[in-house]
Amino acid sequence: MTPQLKKLILLAMPSIHAGAWRYPGAIPDFHRRFEHMKWFAKTLEKGRFDGLFLPDSLAVRAGSVDTLMRSSSVVTLDPLTLLPALAAVTRHLGLIATASTTYNEPYMLARRLASLDVISAGRAGWNLVTSSNPNEAANFGVQSHLEHGARYDRAREFSQVMEGLWESWEADAFCMDAASGVYFDPAKLHTPNHQGPHFAVKGPLNVARPVQGRPVIVQAGASEAGRQIAAETAEVIFTYQTDLASAQVFYADMRSRAVAAGRTDAVKVVPAVLVVLGDTLEQAQRKRSRLDELVDDQSCLATLSIALGHDISAYDPAGPLPEIPESNASKSGRDRVVRLAARENLSILALARRVCGYQGLEMVGTAEMIVDQMALWLQQEAADGFNVMFSHLPGGVSEFVAQVVPLLQKRGLLRKRYEGRCFRENLGLVKR
Ligand SMILES: Cc1cc2nc3c(=O)[nH]c(=O)nc-3n(C[C@H](O)[C@H](O)[C@H](O)COP(=O)(O)O)c2cc1C
Repeated sequence: MTPQLKKLILLAMPSIHAGAWRYPGAIPDFHRRFEHMKWFAKTLEKGRFDGLFLPDSLAVRAGSVDTLMRSSSVVTLDPLTLLPALAAVTRHLGLIATASTTYNEPYMLARRLASLDVISAGRAGWNLVTSSNPNEAANFGVQSHLEHGARYDRAREFSQVMEGLWESWEADAFCMDAASGVYFDPAKLHTPNHQGPHFAVKGPLNVARPVQGRPVIVQAGASEAGRQIAAETAEVIFTYQTDLASAQVFYADMRSRAVAAGRTDAVKVVPAVLVVLGDTLEQAQRKRSRLDELVDDQSCLATLSIALGHDISAYDPAGPLPEIPESNASKSGRDRVVRLAARENLSILALARRVCGYQGLEMVGTAEMIVDQMALWLQQEAADGFNVMFSHLPGGVSEFVAQVVPLLQKRGLLRKRYEGRCFRENLGLVKR
């Protein structure tokens, strides 16, 4: 008997490339108009994607008005308001909301995600992030974020509180016996009574047990502390990778950390990938270059300062990157950018253009080439799937579903119909 072929996990998100909104044929406000996001979700479901991933931030991105005025991501929709509406127009697609552990309260978030899981009949996911955009602090009455390590301590406790709250009710707690007048069985109610350094939460949750037991937990921090919490808590690890060899190292590291943390379930590693499709390689490469040409240099320099957690506006853009000290922003983000500059010997401006456009994994080529690369990453244990970004919307996703999806299905790498009853089952994750 031939062994069953491993299937790819396919998630998708709106493009983060700064030039995507200006690409010919792009709808510039696609990501913040309900009719477009509704069409996006339905198209992903037609393409048998596992889920829609919505990144988020609790502030406009950092930068002066001169640079912000060029950014489409300066405004967006709240994921936990948008996703329940998308749940109503889809049946199978997983719905992942990014939500910060730095500026939310676990009780509030537990009930909103549990509600999304109930409304969507078991399709909620939570991308657990710690806030690193400095503007978020100013929106919550503090001068700066908690220090990096403390942010992760709070995040760990936050997720423990969430798990306790989601366990408040057993699945069959609600007997609703009209004859006796008893609505629930008190033996099936569990009050968490959490007391910790960051949170005191008595519970129980006043939303019934999520359909999936617990929404799918996604995590994306990549520093030492970020990887550790991912190994302990995440079921899907979202990551930025650039090449196969380093992705294999990351994959093996996350698997072994999860085992060391006492996990017996296999965590899934899902890198972001920018897919740019063409009828020929040359056409796809031209499309890819066009995207970068649409990005403004001043915005790129401002974006670079944010990525580094350090203002580099006083330096000559034509010169090399100076020594960048550690900051309280993203450690993994800073390291990735500093490594890129050194590896390719880039000037500040060249580096800024790379960072602002997109600096992660790209697959540029014909549909066959894209499928070959995805299959290779899967077989070589560099990824369990991908979080796909398209060159532009709506055109990029339409092309992907028309050209790449049938080939993936033909190669046995993607389902033809949804197999599971909930998001967790489609992803092949353990039952909760
Ligand atoms: C792939 C990836 C995606 C992320 N997406 C978000 C996001 O949507 N919203 C957010 O506030 N932070 C996001 N983050 C930031 C992380 O939660 C974290 O704050 C940041 O990476 C700093 O932690 P680190 O030094 O451990 O990487 C993301 C990080 C990575 C690596």
